[in-house]
Amino acid sequence: MATPSLNLQITEPELKLLQTLVYQECGMFFDERRVHFLQDRLARRLKATGLNSFYAYYQLLTSREGKTELNALLENLTVNETSFFRNKPQLELFAKTVLEDVLHKKQARRDFSLRMWSAGCSTGQEPYTMAMLIADALAYYYLRNPLPYESPSATKPLIPQPWRVEILASDINYSVLRAAQEGVYPEHHMEPVDYAFRLRYFDKVGDRYAIKKAVKELVHFDFHNLKTEFLPQRNDIIFCRNVMIYFDEAEQKRLIDKFYRCLNPEGFLFVGHAESLFGLTDKFRMIHLNNGTAYQRIEVHA
Ligand SMILES: C[S@@+](CC[C@H](N)C(=O)[O-])C[C@H]1O[C@@H](n2cnc3c(N)ncnc32)[C@H](O)[C@@H]1O
Repeated sequence: MATPSLNLQITEPELKLLQTLVYQECGMFFDERRVHFLQDRLARRLKATGLNSFYAYYQLLTSREGKTELNALLENLTVNETSFFRNKPQLELFAKTVLEDVLHKKQARRDFSLRMWSAGCSTGQEPYTMAMLIADALAYYYLRNPLPYESPSATKPLIPQPWRVEILASDINYSVLRAAQEGVYPEHHMEPVDYAFRLRYFDKVGDRYAIKKAVKELVHFDFHNLKTEFLPQRNDIIFCRNVMIYFDEAEQKRLIDKFYRCLNPEGFLFVGHAESLFGLTDKFRMIHLNNGTAYQRIEVHA
Protein backbone atom coordinates (compact mmCIF):
# COMPACT_ATOMS: atom_id res chain seq x y z
CA MET A 1 0.00 0.00 0.00
CA ALA A 2 1.14 3.55 -0.70
CA THR A 3 2.25 5.64 2.29
CA PRO A 4 0.14 8.79 2.42
CA SER A 5 1.59 12.20 2.98
CA LEU A 6 1.43 12.93 6.73
CA ASN A 7 -0.06 16.39 6.31
CA LEU A 8 -2.62 15.57 3.67
CA GLN A 9 -5.21 18.37 3.60
CA ILE A 10 -8.81 17.54 2.91
CA THR A 11 -10.33 19.68 0.14
CA GLU A 12 -13.75 21.32 0.48
CA PRO A 13 -15.40 18.96 -2.10
CA GLU A 14 -13.86 15.88 -0.40
CA LEU A 15 -15.14 17.03 2.98
CA LYS A 16 -18.65 17.59 1.55
CA LEU A 17 -18.68 14.11 -0.01
CA LEU A 18 -17.59 12.40 3.22
CA GLN A 19 -19.87 14.53 5.42
CA THR A 20 -22.85 13.58 3.22
CA LEU A 21 -21.89 9.92 3.19
CA VAL A 22 -21.70 9.78 7.00
CA TYR A 23 -25.07 11.56 7.26
CA GLN A 24 -26.71 9.16 4.81
CA GLU A 25 -25.24 6.12 6.56
CA CYS A 26 -26.06 6.92 10.20
CA GLY A 27 -27.80 10.29 10.54
CA MET A 28 -24.87 11.95 12.33
CA PHE A 29 -24.52 15.52 11.16
CA PHE A 30 -21.27 17.43 11.63
CA ASP A 31 -22.04 21.14 11.56
CA GLU A 32 -19.35 23.83 11.76
CA ARG A 33 -19.00 23.31 15.53
CA ARG A 34 -18.11 19.62 15.13
CA VAL A 35 -16.55 19.48 11.69
CA HIS A 36 -13.01 19.50 13.14
CA PHE A 37 -13.80 16.28 14.98
CA LEU A 38 -14.94 14.73 11.69
CA GLN A 39 -11.79 15.92 9.91
CA ASP A 40 -9.58 14.55 12.66
CA ARG A 41 -11.23 11.11 12.58
CA LEU A 42 -11.15 10.98 8.77
CA ALA A 43 -7.43 11.78 8.82
CA ARG A 44 -6.80 8.97 11.34
CA ARG A 45 -8.75 6.44 9.29
CA LEU A 46 -7.08 7.56 6.07
CA LYS A 47 -3.70 6.99 7.71
CA ALA A 48 -4.79 3.56 8.97
CA THR A 49 -5.81 2.47 5.47
CA GLY A 50 -2.61 3.77 3.86
CA LEU A 51 -4.52 5.48 1.06
CA ASN A 52 -3.13 8.68 -0.42
CA SER A 53 -6.17 10.91 -0.82
CA PHE A 54 -9.48 11.55 0.88
CA TYR A 55 -11.19 10.97 -2.44
CA ALA A 56 -9.59 7.49 -2.63
CA TYR A 57 -10.85 6.92 0.94
CA TYR A 58 -14.36 7.99 -0.12
CA GLN A 59 -14.20 5.53 -3.04
CA LEU A 60 -13.17 2.75 -0.65
CA LEU A 61 -16.07 3.53 1.70
CA THR A 62 -18.60 3.42 -1.12
CA SER A 63 -17.23 0.18 -2.62
CA ARG A 64 -18.41 -3.33 -1.78
CA GLU A 65 -15.02 -4.07 -0.15
CA GLY A 66 -15.30 -0.95 2.01
CA LYS A 67 -18.02 -2.19 4.41
CA THR A 68 -15.58 -3.04 7.20
CA GLU A 69 -13.82 0.31 6.87
CA LEU A 70 -17.17 2.12 6.88
CA ASN A 71 -18.03 0.42 10.19
CA ALA A 72 -14.59 1.36 11.55
CA LEU A 73 -15.13 4.99 10.56
CA LEU A 74 -18.62 5.13 12.12
CA GLU A 75 -17.27 3.59 15.34
CA ASN A 76 -14.63 6.33 15.42
CA LEU A 77 -17.26 9.01 15.00
CA THR A 78 -19.68 7.95 17.74
CA VAL A 79 -19.57 9.55 21.16
CA ASN A 80 -20.18 6.77 23.69
CA GLU A 81 -20.32 8.69 26.96
CA THR A 82 -22.81 7.07 29.34
CA SER A 83 -23.29 6.13 32.99
CA PHE A 84 -25.49 4.09 35.33
CA PHE A 85 -28.56 5.95 36.63
CA ARG A 86 -27.99 8.85 34.26
CA ASN A 87 -30.53 11.66 34.80
CA LYS A 88 -32.01 10.55 38.12
CA PRO A 89 -35.14 12.79 38.06
CA GLN A 90 -36.13 11.23 34.74
CA LEU A 91 -35.49 7.71 36.04
CA GLU A 92 -37.64 8.51 39.06
CA LEU A 93 -40.47 9.43 36.67
CA PHE A 94 -39.82 6.21 34.74
CA ALA A 95 -39.80 3.94 37.79
CA LYS A 96 -42.48 5.53 39.96
CA THR A 97 -45.00 6.91 37.45
CA VAL A 98 -44.57 5.43 33.98
CA LEU A 99 -43.84 1.83 34.97
CA GLU A 100 -46.60 1.95 37.56
CA ASP A 101 -49.07 3.12 34.88
CA VAL A 102 -47.92 0.55 32.30
CA LEU A 103 -47.96 -2.38 34.76
CA HIS A 104 -51.36 -1.43 36.09
CA LYS A 105 -52.97 -1.13 32.63
CA LYS A 106 -51.35 -4.31 31.38
CA GLN A 107 -52.38 -6.33 34.39
CA ALA A 108 -55.98 -5.14 33.92
CA ARG A 109 -55.83 -6.50 30.34
CA ARG A 110 -54.18 -9.73 31.47
CA ASP A 111 -51.20 -8.84 29.29
CA PHE A 112 -48.09 -9.76 31.26
CA SER A 113 -45.40 -8.94 28.73
CA LEU A 114 -43.29 -5.82 28.94
CA ARG A 115 -41.03 -4.87 26.08
CA MET A 116 -38.54 -2.04 26.22
CA TRP A 117 -35.79 -0.77 23.97
CA SER A 118 -32.64 1.17 24.76
CA ALA A 119 -31.77 2.69 21.37
CA GLY A 120 -28.16 3.84 21.37
CA CYS A 121 -27.21 1.85 24.47
CA SER A 122 -23.42 2.39 24.33
CA THR A 123 -21.60 0.18 26.88
CA GLY A 124 -24.81 -1.04 28.55
CA GLN A 125 -25.20 1.11 31.65
CA GLU A 126 -28.58 2.44 30.41
CA PRO A 127 -30.34 -0.89 29.65
CA TYR A 128 -28.92 -2.47 32.83
CA THR A 129 -30.23 0.51 34.82
CA MET A 130 -33.65 -0.08 33.20
CA ALA A 131 -33.47 -3.78 34.13
CA MET A 132 -32.63 -3.02 37.78
CA LEU A 133 -35.43 -0.47 38.03
CA ILE A 134 -37.99 -2.85 36.52
CA ALA A 135 -36.98 -5.67 38.83
CA ASP A 136 -37.41 -3.29 41.78
CA ALA A 137 -40.68 -1.85 40.47
CA LEU A 138 -42.23 -5.30 39.93
CA ALA A 139 -41.14 -6.50 43.37
CA TYR A 140 -42.65 -3.40 44.97
CA TYR A 141 -45.78 -3.59 42.83
CA TYR A 142 -46.48 -7.16 43.95
CA LEU A 143 -45.81 -6.33 47.54
CA ARG A 144 -48.90 -4.10 47.31
CA ASN A 145 -50.94 -6.04 44.71
CA PRO A 146 -50.15 -9.75 45.13
CA LEU A 147 -51.33 -12.00 42.33
CA PRO A 148 -54.22 -14.21 43.53
CA TYR A 149 -52.48 -17.36 42.34
CA GLU A 150 -48.95 -16.59 43.58
CA SER A 151 -47.55 -19.21 45.92
CA PRO A 152 -46.14 -17.46 49.02
CA SER A 153 -43.62 -20.22 49.63
CA ALA A 154 -42.07 -20.07 46.16
CA THR A 155 -38.57 -18.63 45.91
CA LYS A 156 -38.93 -15.27 44.26
CA PRO A 157 -37.40 -14.92 40.80
CA LEU A 158 -36.12 -11.51 39.68
CA ILE A 159 -39.24 -11.03 37.54
CA PRO A 160 -42.35 -12.44 39.26
CA GLN A 161 -44.51 -14.89 37.33
CA PRO A 162 -46.32 -14.56 34.98
CA TRP A 163 -44.49 -11.43 33.78
CA ARG A 164 -42.08 -11.56 30.88
CA VAL A 165 -39.70 -8.63 30.56
CA GLU A 166 -37.58 -8.11 27.48
CA ILE A 167 -35.14 -5.24 27.08
CA LEU A 168 -33.60 -4.84 23.69
CA ALA A 169 -30.44 -2.74 23.72
CA SER A 170 -28.97 -1.64 20.42
CA ASP A 171 -26.17 0.45 19.03
CA ILE A 172 -24.36 1.12 15.77
CA ASN A 173 -20.96 0.53 17.37
CA TYR A 174 -19.88 -3.14 17.68
CA SER A 175 -17.10 -2.38 20.19
CA VAL A 176 -19.47 -0.85 22.73
CA LEU A 177 -21.96 -3.68 22.16
CA ARG A 178 -19.25 -6.23 23.04
CA ALA A 179 -18.41 -4.35 26.27
CA ALA A 180 -22.12 -4.07 27.11
CA GLN A 181 -22.63 -7.79 26.56
CA GLU A 182 -19.75 -8.53 28.92
CA GLY A 183 -21.35 -6.33 31.61
CA VAL A 184 -18.32 -5.91 33.84
CA TYR A 185 -17.49 -2.42 35.11
CA PRO A 186 -14.60 -0.83 37.02
CA GLU A 187 -15.14 0.81 40.41
CA HIS A 188 -15.12 4.35 38.98
CA HIS A 189 -18.20 3.56 36.82
CA MET A 190 -20.10 2.52 39.95
CA GLU A 191 -20.21 5.88 41.68
CA PRO A 192 -23.91 6.57 40.72
CA VAL A 193 -24.99 3.07 41.86
CA ASP A 194 -26.37 2.96 45.42
CA TYR A 195 -25.03 0.23 47.70
CA ALA A 196 -28.44 -1.48 47.82
CA PHE A 197 -28.39 -1.83 44.02
CA ARG A 198 -24.76 -3.00 44.04
CA LEU A 199 -25.65 -5.72 46.55
CA ARG A 200 -28.75 -6.92 44.73
CA TYR A 201 -27.69 -6.73 41.10
CA PHE A 202 -23.86 -7.03 40.89
CA ASP A 203 -21.22 -9.61 41.76
CA LYS A 204 -17.83 -8.31 42.83
CA VAL A 205 -15.15 -9.90 40.65
CA GLY A 206 -11.70 -8.79 41.82
CA ASP A 207 -11.82 -5.01 41.76
CA ARG A 208 -14.63 -4.90 39.19
CA TYR A 209 -18.41 -5.27 39.30
CA ALA A 210 -20.19 -7.82 37.10
CA ILE A 211 -23.90 -7.55 36.33
CA LYS A 212 -25.65 -10.58 37.85
CA LYS A 213 -26.73 -13.32 35.44
CA ALA A 214 -30.45 -12.86 36.17
CA VAL A 215 -30.23 -9.15 35.24
CA LYS A 216 -28.18 -9.91 32.13
CA GLU A 217 -30.80 -12.39 30.99
CA LEU A 218 -33.36 -9.60 30.75
CA VAL A 219 -31.27 -7.66 28.22
CA HIS A 220 -30.63 -8.65 24.65
CA PHE A 221 -27.96 -6.69 22.73
CA ASP A 222 -28.09 -6.23 18.98
CA PHE A 223 -26.81 -4.01 16.19
CA HIS A 224 -29.39 -1.54 14.87
CA ASN A 225 -28.71 1.57 12.86
CA LEU A 226 -31.40 4.15 13.72
CA LYS A 227 -31.07 5.57 10.22
CA THR A 228 -32.72 2.48 8.74
CA GLU A 229 -36.43 1.70 8.55
CA PHE A 230 -36.14 -1.82 10.00
CA LEU A 231 -36.32 -1.14 13.70
CA PRO A 232 -37.70 -3.18 16.62
CA GLN A 233 -41.48 -2.95 16.85
CA ARG A 234 -44.13 -3.34 19.60
CA ASN A 235 -42.26 -1.61 22.41
CA ASP A 236 -44.02 -0.34 25.51
CA ILE A 237 -41.18 2.02 26.36
CA ILE A 238 -38.26 3.37 24.35
CA PHE A 239 -35.19 5.09 25.77
CA CYS A 240 -33.22 7.03 23.17
CA ARG A 241 -31.16 9.39 25.24
CA ASN A 242 -28.26 11.53 24.07
CA VAL A 243 -28.32 10.12 20.54
CA MET A 244 -30.52 12.58 18.64
CA ILE A 245 -28.30 15.51 19.64
CA TYR A 246 -25.87 14.32 16.97
CA PHE A 247 -28.57 14.37 14.25
CA ASP A 248 -29.90 17.40 12.37
CA GLU A 249 -33.54 18.49 12.67
CA ALA A 250 -34.76 16.63 9.57
CA GLU A 251 -33.23 13.38 10.83
CA GLN A 252 -34.59 13.95 14.34
CA LYS A 253 -38.10 14.33 12.89
CA ARG A 254 -37.75 11.13 10.86
CA LEU A 255 -36.49 9.25 13.92
CA ILE A 256 -39.32 10.48 16.15
CA ASP A 257 -41.83 9.31 13.51
CA LYS A 258 -40.14 5.91 13.47
CA PHE A 259 -40.28 5.72 17.27
CA TYR A 260 -43.99 6.53 17.11
CA ARG A 261 -44.47 3.48 14.87
CA CYS A 262 -42.16 1.31 17.03
CA LEU A 263 -44.25 1.99 20.16
CA ASN A 264 -47.40 0.23 21.28
CA PRO A 265 -50.47 2.47 21.71
CA GLU A 266 -49.91 4.95 24.59
CA GLY A 267 -46.27 3.86 24.77
CA PHE A 268 -43.57 6.11 26.26
CA LEU A 269 -40.44 7.69 24.82
CA PHE A 270 -37.58 9.00 26.97
CA VAL A 271 -35.01 11.33 25.40
CA GLY A 272 -31.88 12.94 26.85
CA HIS A 273 -31.73 15.86 29.27
CA ALA A 274 -30.57 18.25 26.52
CA GLU A 275 -33.09 16.92 24.00
CA SER A 276 -36.75 17.74 23.47
CA LEU A 277 -39.55 16.87 21.06
CA PHE A 278 -40.73 20.48 21.15
CA GLY A 279 -41.38 21.75 17.61
CA LEU A 280 -40.51 18.36 16.09
CA THR A 281 -43.79 16.45 16.42
CA ASP A 282 -47.39 16.71 17.56
CA LYS A 283 -47.76 12.96 18.01
CA PHE A 284 -46.52 12.84 21.62
CA ARG A 285 -47.68 14.53 24.81
CA MET A 286 -45.09 15.69 27.30
CA ILE A 287 -45.16 14.49 30.91
CA HIS A 288 -43.04 16.58 33.24
CA LEU A 289 -42.73 15.77 36.93
CA ASN A 290 -40.12 16.84 39.48
CA ASN A 291 -37.61 17.74 36.76
CA GLY A 292 -38.10 14.47 34.90
CA THR A 293 -39.54 14.42 31.38
CA ALA A 294 -41.10 11.66 29.26
CA TYR A 295 -43.26 11.65 26.13
CA GLN A 296 -46.37 9.54 25.61
CA ARG A 297 -47.73 8.48 22.22
CA ILE A 298 -51.01 10.23 21.43
CA GLU A 299 -53.67 7.96 19.94
CA VAL A 300 -55.83 9.28 17.15
CA HIS A 301 -59.33 7.83 17.46
CA ALA A 302 -61.55 7.93 14.36
C1 LIG B 1 -23.72 9.44 24.02
S1 LIG B 1 -24.14 7.75 23.80
C2 LIG B 1 -25.61 7.64 24.77
C3 LIG B 1 -25.71 6.37 25.56
C4 LIG B 1 -26.94 6.25 26.45
N1 LIG B 1 -28.14 6.28 25.67
C5 LIG B 1 -26.97 7.35 27.49
O1 LIG B 1 -27.73 8.32 27.37
O2 LIG B 1 -26.19 7.27 28.45
C6 LIG B 1 -24.78 7.73 22.13
C7 LIG B 1 -24.81 6.35 21.50
O3 LIG B 1 -25.60 6.39 20.30
C8 LIG B 1 -25.00 5.54 19.34
N2 LIG B 1 -25.45 5.94 17.99
C9 LIG B 1 -25.10 7.05 17.28
N3 LIG B 1 -25.67 7.03 16.07
C10 LIG B 1 -26.41 5.90 16.01
C11 LIG B 1 -27.25 5.32 15.00
N4 LIG B 1 -27.43 5.89 13.82
N5 LIG B 1 -27.85 4.14 15.28
C12 LIG B 1 -27.67 3.53 16.49
N6 LIG B 1 -26.90 4.03 17.47
C13 LIG B 1 -26.27 5.21 17.23
C14 LIG B 1 -23.51 5.72 19.58
O4 LIG B 1 -22.74 4.66 19.08
C15 LIG B 1 -23.43 5.85 21.09
O5 LIG B 1 -23.12 4.63 21.73
